[in-house]
Amino acid sequence: MALEQDTRLDPVVDTLGRLTAPFGRQAARAALGGDWMGHALHPSLTDLPLGLWTATTVLDLFGGSAARPAAQRLLGIGLLSAAPTAASGWVEWHRTERPVRRVGVVHAALNVTAISLYTSSWTARRRDRHGVGTALALAGAGAAAAAGYLGGHLASARKVSSRHPAFDGAGRSGPGADADGAGGVGNPATVPGRPAPDVLEAVTAQHARIRLMLQELGTAGTDDRAAALRHLLAYLAGHEAVEEELLHPRVPAVDGADVGAERLREEAGVALQLERLEQLGVDSQAFRTQLSLIEEAVTRHAQAEELEELPGLAEQLSDADAAVVVRAFAAQEAWAQTRSGSFSEMLEAAKGEVRRLASAQA
Ligand SMILES: [Fe+2]
Ligand SMILES: [Fe+2]
Repeated sequence: MALEQDTRLDPVVDTLGRLTAPFGRQAARAALGGDWMGHALHPSLTDLPLGLWTATTVLDLFGGSAARPAAQRLLGIGLLSAAPTAASGWVEWHRTERPVRRVGVVHAALNVTAISLYTSSWTARRRDRHGVGTALALAGAGAAAAAGYLGGHLASARKVSSRHPAFDGAGRSGPGADADGAGGVGNPATVPGRPAPDVLEAVTAQHARIRLMLQELGTAGTDDRAAALRHLLAYLAGHEAVEEELLHPRVPAVDGADVGAERLREEAGVALQLERLEQLGVDSQAFRTQLSLIEEAVTRHAQAEELEELPGLAEQLSDADAAVVVRAFAAQEAWAQTRSGSFSEMLEAAKGEVRRLASAQA
């Protein structure tokens, strides 16, 4: 979608990111993200205003004058229900990357237009100007339909929808029970209903996401930088934990070279660089310099994994082992959103989670 690449939207994305920052926090995610029920709350909540406003239009067009009070009441309740719906939408928005956020702000702008038109419609009805109220509600329906189209794109094509791995998998229990449907936003490794688990695809998808996070941290405004850093560190900790526990130790030597040990050494080097980064003020020049060094090291390391290590390793893993690895990657992606502490603390915690998940699946 062209909107995803439209950088003219970035100033709006940045400003709204700051204004709606509370919706990116853990408390808001816990309440409005829908983790407690297993999947995103937002798509379900949109049924309320859209359903109520559709009923308003039906009464306006076919209900006659006797239905006017009911139409007005439905419209008003729809407006009230728009508030929690919008709040849950911002929670989803904060879980996405920049291209998706660009579409999200247009989706939000169209919804604000719809809400304004419906509010004017309600006011006109209060003044007994039912004809004007009906016309304004129809215009509101047009804006809401356009917003709904973009919302459909975000949910269906980009898979923007929180999920909790603990709720996936029929007949199984515990976190990470079914990684195919777990975790992330727009990640090919976590598309529901994938046929065979594919380790290489899961790793490369996460590498792409890590590169994007590094770029975003580099370009983030002052207010967003600390949050972007935490997000990156939590995600990287989970990613490296899976690789260090389940992939590198299994890599066979190639021409006498211990490929897995080499990757582990690189990861230890990156961990040290990250620890140094955590000590620096996010606004300092030293932070920017350290970040570009890390970007370079991570990119080289990821390429080495993709080109030297994974093709041979993926062939060696049994289907059951591969399934556990893919499941662990997806579970880490979901858990990264709730992890906190320093990088080394998060890495240790993540490794513990991976070991527990792997032994539960054995
Ligand atoms: Fe790695
Ligand atoms: Fe990696």
